[in-house]
Amino acid sequence: MALLQLRIVPDPVLRRKTRHVRDIDASIQRLVDDMRETMRFEHGIGLAANQGGVLHRVAVIHLPEAEEPIILINPEVLRREGQREVEEGCLSIPGYRAMLFRSVTVRVKAQDRDGKPFRIKAQELLAQALEHEIDHLNGVLYIDHIDDPAKLVKSEQEGQQPVEAAAAERARNP
Ligand code: NI
Repeated sequence: MALLQLRIVPDPVLRRKTRHVRDIDASIQRLVDDMRETMRFEHGIGLAANQGGVLHRVAVIHLPEAEEPIILINPEVLRREGQREVEEGCLSIPGYRAMLFRSVTVRVKAQDRDGKPFRIKAQELLAQALEHEIDHLNGVLYIDHIDDPAKLVKSEQEGQQPVEAAAAERARNP
């Protein structure tokens, strides 16, 4: 495994839409493994391939309480329900966070590391992370979801936080 070089805004690769993966071969599996290692190294809870400069539709998510990471190849959001306000950050935008709105529940389909299709229905932090990473794969960053630049705030401990959709749970209508 090898570490990928984490791309930081305004790197244009973060604005590129990634490409559907047709053959989930050894090179894609190596990419998945490198992304897992890079995510761990950067203390993130998720990583999209274009954050490592690779334009394949591949993302990984590893929530703090989860034993195993979720590997997402060709993920697509099938359905979103509800809206809640959450705090969010991104490894590619170090030192900043913002409050924004994400779905309460999302349904996603994807393929795993072996190419097997699966579906997830997710809520809370996992739903937020799925929306965040699938946004990345479409060239979208969380800052695109804030209407006022003043909502982007500096983190207290710059560069020290395990951001990438690390959320403070703040449901708008609990
Ligand atoms: Ni991010």
